[in-house]
Amino acid sequence: MKINKFLSIMCFEWCIVVERNNKSKYEILVDLAKRRGIFWPAYEIYGGVAGFYDFGPVGLSIKNNIINEWRYHLIHSVDVNVLEIETPIITPRIVLKASGHEDHFTDPITECKSCGRVYRADHLIEEAINKKVEGLSMEELWKIIHEHNIRCPECGGELTKPKPALLLFKTEIGPYKGTKAYLRPETAQGMFINFKNLLNIARNKLPLGIAQIGRVGRNEISPRQGLLRLREFTIMELEFFFDPEKSYEEVMNILEKRKELRNERLNILTAKDKLEGKEETQTYTTIELIEENIVTNPWMAYWMAIGNKFLREIGIPINKIRFVEKLPEEKAHYSEQTFDQEVFTEKYGWFEVAGYSYRTTYDLRRHIEYSKADLTFFKRYEKPKKVKKKKIAPNPAKIKEIAGEKFPSVMKALSEMDKEHLLSELENNGYVIIQDVKIPESPFYVKEEEVLVHGEKIIPHVVEPSFGLERILYVVLENSLHITSDQKIVLKLPYRVAPYMVAVFPLVTGTKPEHVKMINLAKKIKEILISNRITVYYDEEGSIGKRYVRADEIGIPLAITVDYQSIEDNTVTIRYRDTREQKRIHIGEIIKEILSHFK
Ligand code: GLY
Repeated sequence: MKINKFLSIMCFEWCIVVERNNKSKYEILVDLAKRRGIFWPAYEIYGGVAGFYDFGPVGLSIKNNIINEWRYHLIHSVDVNVLEIETPIITPRIVLKASGHEDHFTDPITECKSCGRVYRADHLIEEAINKKVEGLSMEELWKIIHEHNIRCPECGGELTKPKPALLLFKTEIGPYKGTKAYLRPETAQGMFINFKNLLNIARNKLPLGIAQIGRVGRNEISPRQGLLRLREFTIMELEFFFDPEKSYEEVMNILEKRKELRNERLNILTAKDKLEGKEETQTYTTIELIEENIVTNPWMAYWMAIGNKFLREIGIPINKIRFVEKLPEEKAHYSEQTFDQEVFTEKYGWFEVAGYSYRTTYDLRRHIEYSKADLTFFKRYEKPKKVKKKKIAPNPAKIKEIAGEKFPSVMKALSEMDKEHLLSELENNGYVIIQDVKIPESPFYVKEEEVLVHGEKIIPHVVEPSFGLERILYVVLENSLHITSDQKIVLKLPYRVAPYMVAVFPLVTGTKPEHVKMINLAKKIKEILISNRITVYYDEEGSIGKRYVRADEIGIPLAITVDYQSIEDNTVTIRYRDTREQKRIHIGEIIKEILSHFK
């Protein structure tokens, strides 16, 4: 464990405005994003709608590559079984009633009495007094608004008392008198509902991860943070089901083999530290998070370490990543412990890009209660146990005396009734009511037997790592943005997330025979690369210098240029984005050279 004394100093450096017509990094990025097909506000020709963004070809390609990296880090290369699924976005009301979202998924709103503008009360207060107030009650927020005389930032009008507003988007299933439904606010419920299906596919083995990547909707109150707060966005989520009695041993076995993961260093700000007024993080290794009881379950540490590595490998420097534990009043209703994974951004400071929640048995328990489905796991004992068990059977003649003409239906109901339940009703009340008939203990035979029990049903516990894709896209872009000394933009994206692996250019284009030969050779190289599954950006517009600038601006790491010499001796130049260096290689070496950078 090591105290991070340098973080605040580093933050200062990151905040320095990049010189390019005196624009901040944020402004440069937003401008670049629109110009080069990364992202832009949606519905612009109708004036735009806050919280919705479109993604262009370059943005979409980077997003897809981030998704693939996530799949690699969270599904394919982990030490446990993780299965990916896809479930619907439109969710019947009962599901989100059971999950607790219909009752708890709210944010506090306040309205200006003069201009009618609506604000998220906690954010408005945080901006006004520079203090975190997330999770405070409506009364507490109202008190702060009064004490600090916080008013409408637009017109200075008086504000109303905060009240909770449901963030679920409402819809209906069926066009006429349809049943109530919501857009899902998280993909998680699709995984909980499907737990039994996936458990069968995984041959009844825990631990088991179920992953899902998909669109979700949250009807945010006046979102004002561009790509960082959207009303419709993509979540990459994993529900990890395990037996809590085995989690310590299972995680330790993995960390024993994965030394680098055991020693992964994470910057942590605990809830305890926050309550003591500390703002600096401390660095813990994965194993220290477990041994020093920073996490309430070892799987939390495992997934946080995996998530730390994932963000590092897609280009976020470790000093800009931290995990902040939520205070009890800040946590979601389903969580026993939550850490937000935050990344430092130039414009908005530390911003959450992922959350790690210990959801315990909450969701499965609620779905069992609401659906009556069996979402348990049969935990087999190593050796069968001998236990004393009570057996119960009705005496039909005596039941008939009591039930009279209802005898057949009472007997049928008794035969279908859970015997444990019947026993506990009789034991607790001295009678049971079946089909409106009160039946005492006397018409039942109860005897105790020794039986062999092979296992028991348990409700697995769940740890959930959950990532916001568009937020990750933004922080990856911000961290890869470089301005050269000659004021050119270079997106130094990690190779694997770059929108294309390589650019291919003919040096000069025209109609002279040598130019036509150059173009034809460049096109042939492009085709060969594509057939080898190498993604190519082909460009013959304008001067070669302008084409390099365009390729650098969208972060293409390598560029192959076909020149006069190429048509003589089958060699090309390969240019490296980050150093601008060029070297000459033979056409036959291109694929090997490109692939050597994507290992
Ligand atoms: N499933 C995590 C979240 O809703 O934020």
